[in-house]
Amino acid sequence: MKVAPEILSLVPYSPGKPISETKREYGLSEVVKLASNECPIGPSQKMMEAMTEALKDINRYPDGAAFELKRAMSKYLKVSPEKMVFGNGSNELIDLLLKVYCRPGDAIMISEYSFIAYKISAQASSVDVIEIPTRAQMKFDLAAMATTLESNDKIRLIFLPNPNNPTGEYFSTTEFKEFMKTAAERDVLVVLDEAYREFVRADNYPDGIEQMNTYDNVVVLRTMSKVFGLAGLRVGVLVAPESVTDLINRVRNPFNVNSIAQAAVIAALGDKDHLKRVQVITWSGVEQIESYLKRQGLRFLPTQANFVLFDAGFEGDVVFKELLKRGVILRPVTNYGLPTYLRWSVGLHDENEVAMKALTEVLSVLRN
Ligand SMILES: Cc1ncc(COP(=O)(O)O)c(C=O)c1O
Repeated sequence: MKVAPEILSLVPYSPGKPISETKREYGLSEVVKLASNECPIGPSQKMMEAMTEALKDINRYPDGAAFELKRAMSKYLKVSPEKMVFGNGSNELIDLLLKVYCRPGDAIMISEYSFIAYKISAQASSVDVIEIPTRAQMKFDLAAMATTLESNDKIRLIFLPNPNNPTGEYFSTTEFKEFMKTAAERDVLVVLDEAYREFVRADNYPDGIEQMNTYDNVVVLRTMSKVFGLAGLRVGVLVAPESVTDLINRVRNPFNVNSIAQAAVIAALGDKDHLKRVQVITWSGVEQIESYLKRQGLRFLPTQANFVLFDAGFEGDVVFKELLKRGVILRPVTNYGLPTYLRWSVGLHDENEVAMKALTEVLSVLRN
């Protein structure tokens, strides 16, 4: 059967290597996974109880309109329920945005080194990808993006992860507002992907919801996979004007967010202690990792997220494999065009220590 060349040439998203697989392959009993920007602690008691309670009704379909979940999220984000659509992870929402707004031959615009899922989703939908080179320190060049937008009328969606994965870099309110002087005038949707929003400490960071309330064509993606620690349940939310949520609701699978996930998210949104705990663990972990990298003389990018991108000075894939033998999973980013870099997701203090010890060993082997 004939298959579109874009599908045949598609390179699937490569997730962080699972712990179980690494144990099996290397005959290890202990493995530390710091490869998928996950939350290092498990769900709280409140979340566990909510999930257990929801299990009792598992014979029923979930609430397709996610009424209670919307109410809880509406309180947390301070937006009205009509402006929200949930997805099976924010990844599904990226796909749905493409499905609604792009036809084959249209284009999305992204920055170099930005989260790879946008590119994969676009290619899968036969949508072109316009990628704008970054400035120094892999910072997004929003001015160049604005210039490109002025001369290209095929662009329908602009994906701006802020902070970005895998770099941890962010852009400021001033930069964004300057960009919007061009983008607000055009028939495009600007998607602020704020997967790591709760880890941000920079005070000139542009809050997406505020921007959405200011500009008609700005929408925001958030996820429950990071600070809330519910990556395995797959819940993301798109916050957008009703004209957008209405269209997404027409094309999404009616039961895309399961009932256990809905219950857990409601509990998580009400569990401020858990959120604070994860923030504290993350921020102190970032300091721990950064000071280690400094001691080792390794270059890294400043981060506003729960991971640090660093230059190992050797082929990332080789460092990755050597670390695996020592029971540590980091993420090489060769697929992003950064062959000597690795992304280190913040773990618990002891997990970071294990990774440091292994990396020191690996680098000394490679240097000799
Ligand atoms: C920038 C960014 N957006 C979206 C996602 C997808 O998150 P999820 O599908 O788990 O909600 C990720 C995951 O790593 C990410 O880094």
